[in-house]
Amino acid sequence: MAKTLIFGGAFDPPHIEHVAMCRAAMKELDIDRLVIVPTYLPPHKSAGMLSVETRAKLIAAAFEDMRPVVDFIERERGGNNYSALVLPILKEKYGDIIYLVGGDSLQHLSTWYKPEEVLKICPIAVCGREGYEDVKETAQRAQSEYGGRIIPLEYMGRDVSSSMLRARLLLGEEPDTLPKAVLDIIENEGLFEQYFPMIEKLREYQTDELFEHSKAVVKRAVDFNSKHDLKQPFEKVFLAALLHDNAKQRPALDGLSVPKDAVGTPVLHQFLGAEKARRDFGVTDDDILDAIRYHTTAKADMTGLEKLIYTADSLSDDRMYAPIPELRRLAIEDFEAGFKATLKFTYDKLLSRGKGIYPLTVEAYEYYIIQGKK
Ligand SMILES: [Fe+2]
Ligand SMILES: [Fe+2]
Repeated sequence: MAKTLIFGGAFDPPHIEHVAMCRAAMKELDIDRLVIVPTYLPPHKSAGMLSVETRAKLIAAAFEDMRPVVDFIERERGGNNYSALVLPILKEKYGDIIYLVGGDSLQHLSTWYKPEEVLKICPIAVCGREGYEDVKETAQRAQSEYGGRIIPLEYMGRDVSSSMLRARLLLGEEPDTLPKAVLDIIENEGLFEQYFPMIEKLREYQTDELFEHSKAVVKRAVDFNSKHDLKQPFEKVFLAALLHDNAKQRPALDGLSVPKDAVGTPVLHQFLGAEKARRDFGVTDDDILDAIRYHTTAKADMTGLEKLIYTADSLSDDRMYAPIPELRRLAIEDFEAGFKATLKFTYDKLLSRGKGIYPLTVEAYEYYIIQGKK
């Protein structure tokens, strides 16, 4: 009987690791037909940046030699697209199916909607990824907990992040982790170009070095957000990080409202940055503006986005001096610990310089370090 591999995901955009993983699964499991199911408002992620139709076009190009069927079942259903609900319909449609997932996704099996139901419907094939725990062990554990059949693949995937790809495309880079055919469509159709005018404007306000720093902060923030599953909306992370230093090299107050005690100090640019992001870049989202507004001083009781931008700015990859690389490694391991260690390091450094510490930073130190709050 013909065997069909079901592979679902946002594919926003599809990348070389999706393709490699599928190719390996088809070979190892002797699959006859590949069905790709692009998510429609996935339950664990925010909506994709590209429409499902555009993603389908990119999928067809990326997987071309495997002649995939792109199934729009999720769009047809509109919502409630949990595997436990969608797979029975796909089984009806395609017969003997195997459901392919990444190893990290299997590690979160307990958070799926009715995982034991999923495993009653069809076997799950799972692909390991470098940097994650042993996929065979994970598979074994999940199988003994939920029953059914979980097949670990021999193929070991590389860690490629779709959100990092999006960030790089939006910054005008050409990531080498995209299939050529996908990159061609992206270029021909002008996808991911929505922020180019904003970036061009920002470049006028920044030296090359500061612009490089801004890009590095975008990437660091996007990386923390996806690695630690911080669930901050991608576009807010992107814009707050990109624009956080938009006023750093243009300190004119222009009658904008900033705290009087910040004028003439290095922290002015965060307050002015929020106001100028609104005035010059049309940003109206308060979450983004506040993340810019407190990116240097921090403050007590920060939002997730504020913490993320503060930490990514302090630990961006363009900062090579001690002890930043160690703090960065810590934050890559454990975001909360990295954030606190960064705040403590900054506070101690300011204290040793004896030039006074901005009140918001003192309050942040009290809140997070002395009182140990989250
Ligand atoms: Fe800054
Ligand atoms: Fe910065």
